[in-house]
This record gives sequence, C-alpha cells and structure tokens, in this order.
Amino acid sequence: MIVTFASSKGGVGKSTTCAAIASALALEGERVLLIDLDQNRTLDRWARKAPIEGLTVQAIEPQKFGSYFREQEASGAFDHICIDLPGNREVTLFKALARSDLVVIPAQASEPDLREALVVVSDIRDVAETAQRAIPYRLLLTKVFPLRSRVTDYAYDELERRGLPLFRTALVERSAYREMFLNGQPPTVTEPGKGAGQEVLTLLAEMRSIVEASQAEMRKAG
Ligand SMILES: Nc1ncnc2c1ncn2[C@@H]1O[C@H](COP(=O)(O)OP(=O)(O)OP(=O)(O)O)[C@@H](O)[C@H]1O
Ligand SMILES: [Mg+2]
Repeated sequence: MIVTFASSKGGVGKSTTCAAIASALALEGERVLLIDLDQNRTLDRWARKAPIEGLTVQAIEPQKFGSYFREQEASGAFDHICIDLPGNREVTLFKALARSDLVVIPAQASEPDLREALVVVSDIRDVAETAQRAIPYRLLLTKVFPLRSRVTDYAYDELERRGLPLFRTALVERSAYREMFLNGQPPTVTEPGKGAGQEVLTLLAEMRSIVEASQAEMRKAG
C-alpha cells in the first residue's frame, strides 16, 4: 500500500506514526520504502540510528519527488511506500495525496489541530475529484491522554458532528514514541505485544482493512 502521513500542522505526530508503521511492516518481512519529504530530514536521521532490515529510508528534494516515486514504484522493489510530509501545505502534499491508497491525518484532540486537519481533508477531496478516484483518509488522534478527558470527548463529538472518519485506534501519549527518535528503536521493538507496540499493530491492521475495502470497491466499480 501507498500511505501518506499528512497534516498542515507541525508536531502532531506525522513522522512518529510514519516511522512506527513503516518499521512494523518491515519487521513483518515486507519490503518498505519510506520517503522523507521533510527538509528537516527527521526520519532520514532516525533511520541511521538503528537500521531495520527491509526498510529503506530516503530523503528526497520536493522537486525530485515525482520522478523518484515513479521510478521506485515501477521497479517493483517494494511492497509498501510510506510518505512523511512536512508540517505545511506545499506542492509535495498534493503530489503525494494523488498517489496514495490511504492518507493518515494525525491530530491532537484540540480545536486548532482539528481545524488544520479539516484543511487537509478538503485538499484530499479536491485531489480525489481531480484524479476521479476515491482517496480513503482517516484522522488519527495522537498523544491522547490514557484517561478520556473533556478535551478528547470534545474531539470525538466534533468529528462526529462534521462527519469526519476517524481511526478507532488512537495513539496514547507514551514515552516509547518519544524514545524512538533518541535510540532509533520503533515501539514494536521496545514494547512488543503491549503499550505502544500493540497500539501500532492495531493501527496497522485497521489501515490494511481500509485499503483492502477501498480496493475491493474500486474493482467492483470496474
Ligand atoms: N503518541 C505520542 N506519545 C508521546 N510523544 C509523541 C507521540 N507522538 C509524537 N510524539 C512526540 O511529539 C513530537 C512531534 O512528533 P513528530 O515529529 O512525529 O510530529 P510531526 O507531525 O512529524 O512534526 P513536523 O510537522 O514538525 O514534522 C516528537 O517529539 C515526538 O516524539
Ligand atoms: Mg515530521
């Protein structure tokens, strides 16, 4: 699958989630390409700390993205491509959206984050209309406090009111996610079968079933 992690807001957990999902896929034996489009090269640096077999991380200049992506996709060398975007709205956002099987929009349960998430949703709808194909997307609540608070309740109510699709899995505020950038180890390695490790696998299962359902739908539509 081709998955883009997008949000016009900085610091919401795009790179964290992208790295955690890409590593989980690679650790299952799949061949994964992670394209780092953020000029800060967060994931390019992360990958050098503790390389994972089967995971290739490549930082790419925005202007080279289109040709690089086409080449890699055509090579058949990868089962999955994960794309990490910078926290602003620029041309690679639209290029990545147009090529995605699924867009993950991380957001914290706060009014400003949800407002920014809506901007991405409207961009996805524009690209889907232009490309004349469905581009599935889901909001992902990140850095959620373990106990449901008034803020989380507000977020869930607001999303339901606006009819925005949300992953059932949310990523809880956990040190395993922060430590990932310090020691290079993904949550499925530091917390296998529990906590962040379990959460990432549950999210991955949900992502796979959304992509499968949408591809089945497309085949039916001919
Ligand atoms: N579930 C979580 N629990 C604890 N810390 C988290 C979690 N998700 C992300 N973080 C931390 O929040 C910070 C921002 O996360 P991250 O870099 O993934 O966001 P981003 O959306 O990629 O930001 P940018 O737009 O700047 O690229 C990092 O320090 C990361 O370790
Ligand atoms: Mg980032």
